[in-house]
Order: sequence, then structure tokens, then C-alpha cells
Amino acid sequence: MKPLGKIASEISPSATLAVDNLAKSMTAQGIDVAGFGAGEPDFNTPDNIKLAAIEAVINNETHYTPAAGTMRLRTAVCRRLKEDIGADYEPSQIIISSGAKHCLYLAMSALLDPGDEVLLPGPYWVSYYEQIRMCHGVPVVVGSTQEEGWRVSPEKLEAAITDKTKCLILNNPCNPTGMMYTRPELEKIADICVRHDLYVISDEIYSCLVYGDAEFCSMVSLGEEIKKRTLLVNGVSKAYAMTGWRIGYIAANAEVAKVISRYMSHSIGNASNIAQAAAAEALEGPQDSVAAMKSMFAARREYILKRIAAIEGLNCHEPEGAFYVFINVTGVLGKKCGGKVLATSADFCEELLKKGLVAVVSGESFGAPGYVRWSYAASMEKIKKGLDRLEEFLATLE
Ligand SMILES: Cc1ncc(COP(=O)(O)O)c(C=O)c1O
Repeated sequence: MKPLGKIASEISPSATLAVDNLAKSMTAQGIDVAGFGAGEPDFNTPDNIKLAAIEAVINNETHYTPAAGTMRLRTAVCRRLKEDIGADYEPSQIIISSGAKHCLYLAMSALLDPGDEVLLPGPYWVSYYEQIRMCHGVPVVVGSTQEEGWRVSPEKLEAAITDKTKCLILNNPCNPTGMMYTRPELEKIADICVRHDLYVISDEIYSCLVYGDAEFCSMVSLGEEIKKRTLLVNGVSKAYAMTGWRIGYIAANAEVAKVISRYMSHSIGNASNIAQAAAAEALEGPQDSVAAMKSMFAARREYILKRIAAIEGLNCHEPEGAFYVFINVTGVLGKKCGGKVLATSADFCEELLKKGLVAVVSGESFGAPGYVRWSYAASMEKIKKGLDRLEEFLATLE
């Protein structure tokens, strides 16, 4: 048989889903694994949202919707963007799709021609890298270090720009580091993008999950010039515990939105009508469940940071947002686990899962070897159990 498409064959599977699947299959075999691999809230979707979906079914909202999404949901998105970040959008500038992940794919499809370069600050969320390649673009990783607070400096970013650079992907707050840029930092990045005529894909999916004194600033709130070249991506998965409903959105200038809407019409058609009704309730209805979930995440973050700080050989940058800690494990690399040398963070994760029964994702998948990502979107009880196991595992290393 003829070979499959070259680009498709080279796409690697999502490392975060792979860890989660492995942990789940060990659990299915009766092994008590404490899994911290997945980036998904452990809370259930709030009742008012579930009831809205049931009502939608009963009211026969079971037909196709416009490709860009129902007018009700697009209007609800506009209202929320105005209320949350002060940005003005019309429903014609909003595209609804099946999850923020697919929105990112649509955004890249709309912007990229073969060979176009995309600036990707590292460490980066696993799917960006592959999606750029799936859209025939070239990822140009601009790395940062823990010492830099995982912030990509404007100088490094500007130095990576060539005449092929088309856009920047900015994830704020960041998965996997939890880092969040301040307004002055974002202003410098926005200035570079405007001066070099770059688009920005701004993934703000964790904008509601920000802790302590840190204040979220959206790229599109920095003025009209940067707003018109920004494709803002957000959704209901993380803030409303709605990962399985698969609803995300893009807010963009009207021309970009029209192009993306055509892509939608020829690909998935439209996001689920029922899930759109549920998402509309999430965005329009009472927001107290968002605050309640956030305060639980905040308590878990405090706890996990305190425990990690007390463990010899480990440390991490204090994350401002999202629900991850990105732990530096270089202090224990080189040690042996049952005769096997832990040479890399990938080795560390493998042994921690097999011997310690704790599932976390190794930094290699995010372009940051030497680190592991631990999600605290898990119950406090599970987090305590996981950290106890981590300590026991570390005590066995020679
Ligand atoms: C940075 C980032 N963007 C997008 C997504 C995808 O969100 P959704 O579940 O809405 O597709 C995730 C999910 O893990 C994420 O971490």
C-alpha cells in the first residue's frame, strides 16, 4: 500500500492523554494509581448547566445550528468578554467549536500557509507544537527558564522573528508552568507583534483560574491595534468543569471569523447544539460555582506548594494561575531506583508510576526536560495521598 500522508504519520500522540490513559488502564486492572496527569477539573458540571442541556433536548434543540454557533451562545460569549475583560465584540466575530483545542486548530488553519513560522514560547502545551505542524507551519520554540519565572523575554522573542514569521501563540496563564504575564510584560509583547505585523493566537482558557494578588490581563484589552490581530481562544471546559461537553470559542476580527466559519461549515459543521445550550447557561447564568471551584483550587495549590518546598531535591516556580505545578526534579536525577538510573525526567515519571503508583507528565513533552507537571485538579485527599507516595518513592532512591 502507498504510505500514509507524511505530515499525519509524523504527528505524535498527546503525552498528557497517554499518561492519563495508562493510569486509567492500571486503575481498571485494580491497581490503585493516584493520577495527576490530566488537565481536567475533578468537579462535576454545575446543576444549572446540566438542567439547561436536558431542557434543550426536551425543546428539540437537536438540529444543526449555524456553523459559527447559535446566536444565543455567541451573544453570551460577547457579554462575558465585555464583563470579564472589557472587550467589545459582535456575535459575527465569534466562532463556537468543539472545545478550545479545536478552536486553536481552526485558528492555525486560518492563518498558516506551508512554511509559515509560528513563535511558540516554551515550555509549551503539547498540542500547540503538533497543531502547527498539522497546519503545515513551522514551530519556532523560544524557550524560557525557571530562573526567568518561565517568562519569555521580549528580546528573545524579537530575535526569533524572520520574514517568514506569521504569528505568536501565547498561553496566558500557561500550561504547564502556571506562569502568568503581567500587563506591562504583555504590553511589550503586543508592541513587538504590532511592529512586526504578526498575528497572535491568545489561549486564555485558564483566565478564570488566577490566584493570590495576580490579576489576569487579556491580550485584546491592550488596544485596538493588537486586538484586531489577535485570535482570542477560550471556552467552558476549565472554568465550568465542562471538559466533556466540548465547547470552546474564538473571538477575532470579522474577516478572520468569516474564514474560520467557512472551515467549520466544511469540517465538523457545527458544535453540538445541546452542548451549546449548556454553555450558554454557563456563561449567562450565576457565576458563583466558578468562584467556589477556584477557591478549592487555591487551597490545593497552597498545600502542594508547601509540601514540595519541604521535599529535599525538588522545587518549583510559584504558579500564578491554571492548576499545575511544574516541579524541578533535576536534584534527584542520576539516582538509582531498584538498580535503574533515573537519567531523565521521563525515567523519573516512568518509575514513579510503576513503583510509586503516581502518574504525572514528564517535562520532555512540554519542551522542558528535568521537570514534571503535576495537576492539582484532583481532590485534596488524592493530592495528599500522591504527595505521601512521592515522598516514599524518593526515600527508596539510592
Ligand atoms: C492550554 C490549553 N489550551 C486548550 C486546552 C483545551 O481545552 P478544551 O478542553 O476546551 O479543548 C487545554 C486543555 O488541557 C489547555 O491546557
